[in-house]
This record gives sequence, C-alpha cells and structure tokens, in this order.
Amino acid sequence: MKILGIETSCDDTCASVISADKDKIKILSNIVSSQTKIHQKYGGVFPTLARREHEKNLVPVLTRALKEAKLLKENKIKISKQEIKTISNILKKGKHLPIEKFFKKYQKPNIDAIALTIGPGLEPCLWTGINFVKALSFFWKIPIIKVNHIEAHILVNFPSFKNFLPSVCLIVSGGHTQIILMKDIGNYKVLGETRDDAAGECFDKTARILGLEYPGGPAISKKAEKAKKGEISLPRPMIYQKNYDFSFSGLKTAVLYNAKENKVKSEEYVREMCREIQQSIIDVLIFKTMKAARNCKAKSIIIGGGVTANKELKKQFKLKAKEENIPLFCPEKNYCTDNATMIAVAGYLRKKQIKWNKVEAKANLRI
Ligand code: KG4
Ligand code: ZN
Repeated sequence: MKILGIETSCDDTCASVISADKDKIKILSNIVSSQTKIHQKYGGVFPTLARREHEKNLVPVLTRALKEAKLLKENKIKISKQEIKTISNILKKGKHLPIEKFFKKYQKPNIDAIALTIGPGLEPCLWTGINFVKALSFFWKIPIIKVNHIEAHILVNFPSFKNFLPSVCLIVSGGHTQIILMKDIGNYKVLGETRDDAAGECFDKTARILGLEYPGGPAISKKAEKAKKGEISLPRPMIYQKNYDFSFSGLKTAVLYNAKENKVKSEEYVREMCREIQQSIIDVLIFKTMKAARNCKAKSIIIGGGVTANKELKKQFKLKAKEENIPLFCPEKNYCTDNATMIAVAGYLRKKQIKWNKVEAKANLRI
C-alpha cells in the first residue's frame, strides 16, 4: 500500500510518500521545508509565524512529494460549490493555503491512506497540518491515520528492530527527552524523562548564551569538532541518580555563570565550552539509556529525534553498545530530525484508519 505522511508539529513542513508491503518499506519521497532561517532571529520557534509558514509551504511541499513519488498527474478537475464550501469550512483561518487551485489542477493520487501528526507539538502548527489533511481526505476520499510524533521517531527504524524486542528507546529532540521501553509496536512504557529542559533545548539555549545561531545543536557540534581538551568542567546532571529521569536546566545555568565570568569569549573558549556541553549531554544520555537497557534486559536500543543527528553522540553510542554487545538502531541523519517518512511508517504500522471529521490536535499527547 502507498501512504502519504504529513508532519507540521514544529517548524518543519514535511511530506513523504512510502510504499509498504509486510516488512518492506520503500521511501518514494521525503520532502522537508525548514523554517530555520525565519526563526533564527528569535533564537527559537515562534508559533504563529511557524503556522503561517506551514500554510504557505504545505501545497508546494505536497506537490514535490507527489511528483518525486511519480504520483502527480495533471488533469482538469471540477469542484462543486458544496465541496468548496466544505473545504473552506475545514480550513477555517488557513487563508494562505492555495488548496483549491491545487485540487483543480491535479487528479487524485494513487494513495491508500494519509498519516498525520496529531501531537505532541505546537498547537497552531499541528492544526495547520490537520486541517490541510482533512481537506485532502475529504476531497480525495482517502482515510486518515493519526500518528504520535514521538512514536514515529521510534518506528521510523522499522523493520530493523522487529526481532529485537523489547527495546529501550531514547528520544531526544527540541521538545522531548524520554527513555521508553517498547515491548511491542503500540506497547510502550515511559521509564524516565526530563524534569525541565529537553536535551535539544539545552543545546539551543546554551548556543544562544555563547552567541551561536539557532538551532544550537548543529552549531555547538561544529565548534566542538575544532576544540582541544581544555580546563572547562560542567556537571553531568542526575547521572548517578536511581531513576531514568534527566534535568538539563542546571547545565544551562552552569554555562551561563561560566560565560559571565569569561567576559572575553575567545574562539578557543567557545570551542572548548561547546565540546564540554556536548560531552556532558552525551555522557548523561548514554549512561542512563545503557542502564535502562541492562535493567530491562532489552534486546536492542533505539535512538531517535533531532539530537541523535549529532555525530559524536552516535559514535559514542555505537561504541558503548558494541562494548555491551547490544544492537543499536538509529536512523540516517535526515530521518533523525523531523520528517514525514517517519509519520508515514508509523501510520502504516498503527493501521487504524478514520474519517476526516474525526481528527483533533493533541498538543500534549503522551506515548
Ligand atoms: O526532532 P527535532 O528535529 O524537532 C523536534 O521535534 O523538536 O529536533 C530538533 C532539535 C533542536 O533542539 C536541535 O538543536 C537538535 O534537535 N539538533 C541537534 C543536532 N541537529 C539538531 N542537536 C545536537 N547535534 C546536532 N547535530
Ligand atoms: Zn521530532
């Protein structure tokens, strides 16, 4: 079957088409339109601006995704007045969405279902994607599959983990840091999570303190590559506590104080600080995940989310997993950060199809 995935939970507008049959997943397209440049001046994502950008980007991103998947066929399609009325009711405030023109120009693609992120995420952003998909689903008469964004970060690794369950999963992104035990697809237990800032948020906020651009993760990792081992020593918050929780706001404060003491921030200082921030986060994430894997007798470890795009984290995780003789699954870089392929794959695995008028955003959705 062919599934179209749509993801708009934060600042990336994403569409992807997969073709799936039993354990085989073929990615036919994976389009991501990033808003990084727009949010850079705010040092983080500005929700109403993000919503407007999603509205502008959704039709072009979908068009590209269908075209790459060879599913876009031009045709003159008629829309009735009643259909136009329903579509504009569905889109409500979505004034920037040129969907009518799109419907008139292209025929219904050969797709069996549309998988869609309903949460967790920024509410205005989620609703933009949801209303867009509702309109597609209504007009094309294709069912919707609701997807949890966090679960999708895990399931994008399918089918590699299939014979290695239970698995301990670490999801680290800009909004979330969780250790989750997956007994089976759809059967999860949150073992621990951050009590304050997410790991990605810590990268973003400490980068800002050091005058580096948003998003902080890639900026810090780039500087860290050039660092020499120096004198700076930051805490490893909660590392030896008897739980699987995290806390990264103390690390941010430690960086803030250290940076205040060092008024002149030489390039060498910034590089060394970046190396130490990155290493502190890596140490805590790896230590706690490995502990959870051991205690739960997990047969594998899955890591995902934007922070796992970090080369050093991946390298050190792989080494540690090899040392402890446990398989580690991590997607390629483009599938670590937000993408719609993971939504399509999760939709394929979760299966439950519903009608367009039964979908709502759940900004605080839990796994
Ligand atoms: O999963 P994601 O794309 O979006 C959310 O669901 O939040 O994650 C974004 C986060 C940002 O905080 C960003 O700084 C971080 O992932 N990130 C990285 C790297 N690339 C992205 N963190 C560390 N190293 C990277 N290379
Ligand atoms: Zn994410």
